[in-house]
Amino acid sequence: MRTEEKLLILALRGETLSRPPFWLMRQAGRYLPEYKATRQDAGSFLDLCYNPDLATEVTLQPIRRFGMDAAILFADILLIPDGLGQALDYKEGEGPILEPIRNVAELSALSMDNLHSRVAPVYETVARLAEELPDNVALIGFAGAPWTVATYMVEGRGSRDHAIVKQWAYSDPDGFGQLMDLLVTATVEYLSKQVEAGAEVVQLFDTWAGALSETAFQRWCIEPVQKIVAQLRQSYPDLPIIGFPRGVGAGYGTFAKTANVNGVSLDWTVPLDWAARELQPHVTVQGNLDPRLLVVGGPAMEAEINRIRETLGQGPFIFNLGHGIVPETPPEHVGRLAEMLRG
Ligand code: CP3
Repeated sequence: MRTEEKLLILALRGETLSRPPFWLMRQAGRYLPEYKATRQDAGSFLDLCYNPDLATEVTLQPIRRFGMDAAILFADILLIPDGLGQALDYKEGEGPILEPIRNVAELSALSMDNLHSRVAPVYETVARLAEELPDNVALIGFAGAPWTVATYMVEGRGSRDHAIVKQWAYSDPDGFGQLMDLLVTATVEYLSKQVEAGAEVVQLFDTWAGALSETAFQRWCIEPVQKIVAQLRQSYPDLPIIGFPRGVGAGYGTFAKTANVNGVSLDWTVPLDWAARELQPHVTVQGNLDPRLLVVGGPAMEAEINRIRETLGQGPFIFNLGHGIVPETPPEHVGRLAEMLRG
């Protein structure tokens, strides 16, 4: 099937479809026994990300089981810092740990020189997926948006209050801006290679956009995303791009009108009537089932799936979660969701 005929691409071109496409953020991963087995074979999480055979396999696992309309490349948003030379480790039960970069002087530890050679296996995974995916399944590449990647690079780990990265960004915006500019450049290069290898859509994950005040949201979320989109569009004018500024409330309105993306992924707190009225005239919306309802399953989950589909399905829409699948999700509940959405 040609790219233009896949449901995900049609939705991102602004079409309202009688059967909207669906996929789920973090659809590959620890809720699947076959993922756990492959992860065991790979050794570490980074070894899995950098092994094209196994990364292709785990990308395909949810598609085989549930028949989503799109596959998302198996990788991680922190491969860019890794490729820039920042030491990175994933500790069991703790998440990612990085050697923090906290001021302009420490930026000299980072370099674009080895980015492509370090992450080359990811491009190979994309190329294999482009070969192996069923004809009607779209291939999504991704990266973290600069702000979210910077939070991990500066804090050195996941953070609740983002105190250290905000201290730098608010007190020395020019210096912090140098890190953000480097991330814009690296992200454009990384996503361009994914597109050349066969990614048909890209998504930018800004998981921590909701931590920013209004002015900072403009400067550290919207502006870097605008730059990435503009640069990608110079080489790939028709590339569909999805943004996910999680947790920004009414800021979703500004994002939808000014970020120049084709699609906006909504977290589960966004009111659906408001999204239909204020966002859908400007962009395709994607979302927004609370992943906890996928853990609960049954009538509570089913009622919410129907409500989302009825409210957003009147315009350009992609069904998804409001954030990633959590590990304790029973795979049968994903099966039921898929059955309802495929109709
Ligand atoms: O299926 C998919 O969606 C594709 C793969 C994917 C992963 N991470 C694999 C992964 C994607 C798209 C991501 C994005 C990602 N990574 C984000 C943005 C989206 C979000 O969930 O907010 C962020 C913030 C990260 C950084 C990251 N990676 C953290 C904080 C952690 C540890 C906590 C956790 O969620 O497990 C990871 C590890 C990670 N990335 C795992 C997977 C499958 C778990 C690793 C394991 O097998 O133990």
